[in-house]
Amino acid sequence: MTGEETGVARGPDDAAVICGVGYWLPPQVVTNADLCERLDTTEEWIFRRTGISARRVADPGTTTSDLATRAGARALASAPGRQVQAVVLATTTPDRRCPATAPEVASRLGLTGVAAFDVSAVCTGFLYALATATGLIAAGHAEAVLVIAAERFTTLLNPRDRTTVPIFGDGAGAVVVRRGDSAEPGRVGRVFLGSDGGQRDLINVQDGYFQMQGRAVFRQAVERMAEAARLAARAADWRTEDVDKLVVHQANARVSAAVASELGVPENRHTQNIREVGNTAAASIPILLGQSAENGTLLPGDRVLVTAFGGGLTWGATTVVWPELKTTAQMRRRDVRVAQIDPGGGAPVE
Ligand code: COA
Repeated sequence: MTGEETGVARGPDDAAVICGVGYWLPPQVVTNADLCERLDTTEEWIFRRTGISARRVADPGTTTSDLATRAGARALASAPGRQVQAVVLATTTPDRRCPATAPEVASRLGLTGVAAFDVSAVCTGFLYALATATGLIAAGHAEAVLVIAAERFTTLLNPRDRTTVPIFGDGAGAVVVRRGDSAEPGRVGRVFLGSDGGQRDLINVQDGYFQMQGRAVFRQAVERMAEAARLAARAADWRTEDVDKLVVHQANARVSAAVASELGVPENRHTQNIREVGNTAAASIPILLGQSAENGTLLPGDRVLVTAFGGGLTWGATTVVWPELKTTAQMRRRDVRVAQIDPGGGAPVE
């Protein structure tokens, strides 16, 4: 995977460029009304406090590698002919403690032999994985990298806990990043990452179940995401008014609105999908990118400011000038192989 092996010649204008995007959501929709049948809550409380109306929940036979493989296949299909030398998978819910889930996903995608490893940074996982991918490319270790974020986050929840069950959902998103030129659309700006382990107890898994201190997390999330986003925008030499689309980790609609307001980005430039999918942890940002590209919210040339926050604590932000890509919807129509992915575990995806 050295520069020599991949024929990589590095130059001063090299950049990592997004050249493919895809996502996959499990079909089962769980509405707020469904939750009210088993939790002491109301549809109105959930929607008013979180902005969430429904979330997707994977059935018990579906693994994180199933979700990741499907999203990864779609991202690869949107970057036709692109050979990747690494698969980086961000997840909080790997299929097993050991080995990592990424090698299995790579094999099922027909990528046996490439580098494959997991990254764990909870809801900031996608940005950590993206930074890793851009680093692999910048150092000449890879020409192109498949970055996937996949979560079966609902498996971490206490089914009787009304403070967490309404918030989270399952899903996966992915991008393909390749070596490119810094002037090209799709270039990933500097990725700013941070952490504060002193506050690890605000979000953690204890006695087998996910727990979080909602109010403290809320405050930290707004502060850290706004701060990181400001740094990323400044590094790209963008002012607030230059930002065409703000992509905030979908933790809570009120958190995203507060981040947008801190940054001074108007509401109509703020992309969201939390209402339909809830918080899908690491997968949140690439699912939102994939859906927004598909439904025309993200347009080629848009200056996109991306920011995320999660357990650890961890946070991060970057910028992307959105490229022209084939979307998942177009692929569903055109690429029969994607539509035929086997939902069962272990089946290779062509
Ligand atoms: N239905 C009804 N009432 C609920 C409820 C539910 N689903 N969940 C909590 N409540 C109750 C609480 O028990 C509490 O009752 P009390 O006042 O009698 O003690 C009351 O609502 C307020 O609880 P609180 O936790 O303070 O509510 P909140 O307005 O802060 O909203 C969150 C809770 C979790 C929605 C909110 O704090 C949040 O979104 N925080 C950020 C979470 C986040 O971003 N997580 C992801 C990080 S990556």
